Amino acid sequence: MRIDIITCLPGLFEGPLTQSIVKRSMEKGLVELKIHNLRDYTSNKHSSVDDYAFGGGAGMVLMIEPIDRCISTLKKKSDYDEIIYLTPDGETYNQQLANQLSLKENFIFLCGHYKGIDQRVRDHLITKEISIGDYVLSGGELAAMVLADSQIRLVPGVLNNEISALSDSFQDNLLAPPIYTRPSDYKGWKVPDVLTSGHNANIEAWRYEQAVKRTENKRPDLLN
Ligand code: 6GU
Repeated sequence: MRIDIITCLPGLFEGPLTQSIVKRSMEKGLVELKIHNLRDYTSNKHSSVDDYAFGGGAGMVLMIEPIDRCISTLKKKSDYDEIIYLTPDGETYNQQLANQLSLKENFIFLCGHYKGIDQRVRDHLITKEISIGDYVLSGGELAAMVLADSQIRLVPGVLNNEISALSDSFQDNLLAPPIYTRPSDYKGWKVPDVLTSGHNANIEAWRYEQAVKRTENKRPDLLN
């Protein structure tokens, strides 16, 4: 999988994508992820990436030209299956959409300012618009990280235990069951006996039952 992220705040990406699973996926050569600074694609002498809105109104608007130049440059080197603009008015992201997207290979994620991006970018340069939920972030960067992380962990070979992505909460519209580790008795708080019984069929049955119970309690909407 290849992910190119276009942003005017590249520094925001330094932490989350250089640790743990994402880092290992890149070291293993399963994922290639690059951050591109919009400012490197400007042609004006102040290297500005935004400007006032035509017709007035508060807030700056990201200009089309640096975005177009950046996307064109990237397209010369790779083909892209999706060019995704992260925006609160996009399609709401969930595990089903994550699974669908994970079947594709090459992505561009375009991060905008909340106040906006020139509409012509949306009309002509992108293939999909995604929101990560009904609340407003100050930019698309955190959303792009959410997308990148959730996509990368679905790439075959990224997780040590392939089964573990399938047993995630939401993968079958059920939340994951409770899990425990040693000690089996901590200050009198005990692990359910079935889990230490060594009886696999009973353990699987218990986990399924618990997953259903937890979903009924916390997210009944998932069961419909
Ligand atoms: Cl993708 N962007 C912004 N700015 N806010 C959001 C979002 C995206 N998804 C939810 N809120």
